[in-house]
Amino acid sequence: MAAFKTLPSRPLGRNGPLVPRLGLGLMGASGTYGPSPSDEERFALLDEAYRRGEQFWDTADKYGDSEALLGKWFAANAEKRKDIFLATKFGIKPIKTSPGYAIDSSPEYCRECIERSLTRLGLPFVDLYYVHRLDKITPIEKTMEVMVALKNAGKIKYIGLSECSAESLRRAHAVHPIACVQVEYSLICTEIESPKRRLLEVARELGVAIVCYSPMANGFLTGTIRSRADVTKPGDFRGILPWLKEENIQKNVAVLDRIAEIAKNNGVTLPQLALAWLLAQGDDVFPLPGSSNIHRLNQNLQSLEVALSAEDEQAMRRIAGEMVGERFQELTGYAFGDTPALES
Ligand SMILES: NC(=O)c1ccc[n+]([C@@H]2O[C@H](COP(=O)([O-])OP(=O)(O)OC[C@H]3O[C@@H](n4cnc5c(N)ncnc54)[C@H](OP(=O)(O)O)[C@@H]3O)[C@@H](O)[C@H]2O)c1
Repeated sequence: MAAFKTLPSRPLGRNGPLVPRLGLGLMGASGTYGPSPSDEERFALLDEAYRRGEQFWDTADKYGDSEALLGKWFAANAEKRKDIFLATKFGIKPIKTSPGYAIDSSPEYCRECIERSLTRLGLPFVDLYYVHRLDKITPIEKTMEVMVALKNAGKIKYIGLSECSAESLRRAHAVHPIACVQVEYSLICTEIESPKRRLLEVARELGVAIVCYSPMANGFLTGTIRSRADVTKPGDFRGILPWLKEENIQKNVAVLDRIAEIAKNNGVTLPQLALAWLLAQGDDVFPLPGSSNIHRLNQNLQSLEVALSAEDEQAMRRIAGEMVGERFQELTGYAFGDTPALES
C-alpha cells in the first residue's frame, strides 16, 4: 500500500498496517439518514476523500448500495485501489419479517457473504473484514476459523470484530490476532470505557485498535439536530434514538449548547471538537465520521489539526455526562455481543 502522505497515520493494532487516524464511514451515503445523493455526487465525495488522503474506507454488505457504488468507483479508478484501506462487514442478514434483519455470524453465512461482497466490489480481496454482530449461537472460535481460512485464501487481509464484548474479543484474539474492534464511541457514548464493559481496557491489553462508529452520535454532536423535526423526515431512522426522543431531546440540546461554547472558545466547529475529543483519547483510537457531503468531509478532516487541552477534554466529558437517554444498541439485544463456549 502506498504511504498516506497527507494525513497523520498510525498502525491499526499492534504491528498492524498504517492507516489514517480518521476513516470515512460510508453508511450514510447509501441511505440511513434519508435518500442517497446521486452516484455523481458520491463519486465526487470518494474522489475528494482520496485526494485528501482519507483513504481508510468503511462499508458493510448491509449499507444499501454502498458496496456496489464502491465497485463502480474501483472499476473507474483501478490504479487507486492499492491506496485504499477498505473495510467491509458481514453478519446482519436481511429478512422479510420484522425487524427486517437477523444476526448471523455462522461460518456458512460468512463464506457466502464474502463472495457476494467481493463480487459487488469487483475486487479479489478486502483489506479488513469485520464480523458486524455476533449471533449468540455460533461460538466465536467457529467464526474465527472461517475468517482465518479467508485470510489464508487471500480474500481478506486483516480481521476485525464489531460490537463485541471484551470476552469475545479475548477469545477471538486467542485464535488469530484481531486488528481492531469497531464500536460506538463518542463524547456522548463512552460505554466501552466502563468497568462493566472493559472493552477499551482489554483491547489495549491485547494491542487491538479501536475504530469508533457514530463518532458524532449519528450527527447529534454536530449541532444540526435541534428538535424532533430534524430527525423524523422520511428515511431518517434517528427518531428512534433514545437521546433524540421527545422527552430527552431538548435537555440534550441544552447540554450540547454548553459544549458548543468550548468549540467557540477554541475557534473550531462542534463536529471538529467532537472528533478532536476522540482523537485525544489515544493513538489507537480511529474515529470513523460518516458524511455524504464534500464540504463536511473537509470540515471533519480539519479536526486532525485541533490541539485540545486536557482541561477542555475533561470539561467536555463532565458536561456530556449530563445527557439523558440510553444507548440504542442496548435495545437491540446484540450490544457488546457474546457467544456460547466452544464445546470440546
Ligand atoms: N459497526 C457498526 O455497527 C456501525 C454502526 C453505525 C455506523 N457505522 C460506521 O460508522 C460510520 C459513521 O457513523 P454514523 O454515520 O452512524 O454517524 P456519525 O458519523 O456520528 O454522524 C453522521 C451524520 O452526521 C452528519 N455530519 C457529518 N459531518 C458533519 C458536519 N461536519 N457537520 C454537520 N453534519 C455532519 C452526516 O450528514 P451528511 O452525510 O449530510 O454530512 C450524518 O447525518 C458509518 O458511516 C459506518 O461506516 C458502523
